[in-house]
Amino acid sequence: MNHILHVVGARPNFVKAAPVLRAIRKRGLRQTLVHTGQHYDRNMSDVFFTQLEIPEPDVNLGVKSGTHASQTAEIMRSFEPVVLESKPDMVLVYGDVNSTVAAALVCSKLLVPVGHVEAGLRSFDRTMPEEINRIVTDRLADILFTPSEDGDTNLLHEGVPRERIHLVGNVMIDSLIQLLPAAKSCPKNGFPDRYALVTLHRPSNVDDVDSLRAILDSLTNVSKELSIIFPVHPRTRQRLAEFGIDTQNLKLLDPIPYIEFLSLQSRAAVVITDSGGIQEETTYLGVPCLTLRRNTERPITVTLGTNILVGDDREGLATEMEKILEGKQKKGLRPPLWDGYAGDRIAGILQKM
Ligand code: UD1
Repeated sequence: MNHILHVVGARPNFVKAAPVLRAIRKRGLRQTLVHTGQHYDRNMSDVFFTQLEIPEPDVNLGVKSGTHASQTAEIMRSFEPVVLESKPDMVLVYGDVNSTVAAALVCSKLLVPVGHVEAGLRSFDRTMPEEINRIVTDRLADILFTPSEDGDTNLLHEGVPRERIHLVGNVMIDSLIQLLPAAKSCPKNGFPDRYALVTLHRPSNVDDVDSLRAILDSLTNVSKELSIIFPVHPRTRQRLAEFGIDTQNLKLLDPIPYIEFLSLQSRAAVVITDSGGIQEETTYLGVPCLTLRRNTERPITVTLGTNILVGDDREGLATEMEKILEGKQKKGLRPPLWDGYAGDRIAGILQKM
């Protein structure tokens, strides 16, 4: 294995790719970095590259937003000539976003081996676009790097040969461990001492006016007991405006850079979210996490970590909030191999191939 090409596109991809890029660079292999442009705003992309010390992409496909079909198709169309020209020995794709599945499809048709970082996660909920991306990408991948044992179990169930699966741990936690000292020394920036940190962007929560309104009502209730810090994803910001939802009771912020967001997570009394990665980060940090989803592709954060699925159950959210305010929050453990060396393990496996 001499030449590895990485494909990233959306915010969580950057956090996952950074430690792998670093570990492969240390081993002196040739690498090419392709940014699809799925996320393009400065605070959704560039800031992450700077803070995570990711080198400037060799190629930016500049695809930007669109429907699922048009975004995926546009990434495929513009990525194919890049693969044909750069002739990598392997292409690494990350997570479960549209950029991940688009790149995997292109490579498998060109007979270029695909490695999937964060393989095997399943919510078993096909109404989530990411679940489709996960299933298809894993089906196409030649080598599958899993973050936790449940990923191996899911893949074996689906008939993936054992020898293709490598349990390496969680690359997102590699980035967290690397930048936690910087996060801990971040100034408080006028934020309150005790607060709930909120993020919200899943289509099932924000694209439906009634769901979004109900969640904001619940958050307004929470804000009577505890200050809320709510950095708003562009998708959610658009929907709030489109639906004319009043957000005066909640202080809405723009998306926050990685280190500052990590700092806010590590100091939060509770995190309320529908993100995937944040369920993992809070589990590592030991911070209570209430997830506004009925299922998760990251069950280890519930069985072992601090995560609780509250779905759309408003009373459930209120009950869990009460426990947290009384200091009776759920305690958790850190999953095995979430230790800062997942990227090194991946690089070691690739080097031997
Ligand atoms: C994508 C991923 C999701 C991931 C999330 C992290 C898919 C299917 N979804 O969702 O799994 O959790 O990223 O953030 O790939 N927009 C901007 N600026 C940007 C990027 C997006 O304004 O830099 C707006 C666009 O109007 C766009 C909308 O946000 O229509 C949604 O962006 P998109 O990339 O389609 O999906 P995300 O909701 O970000």
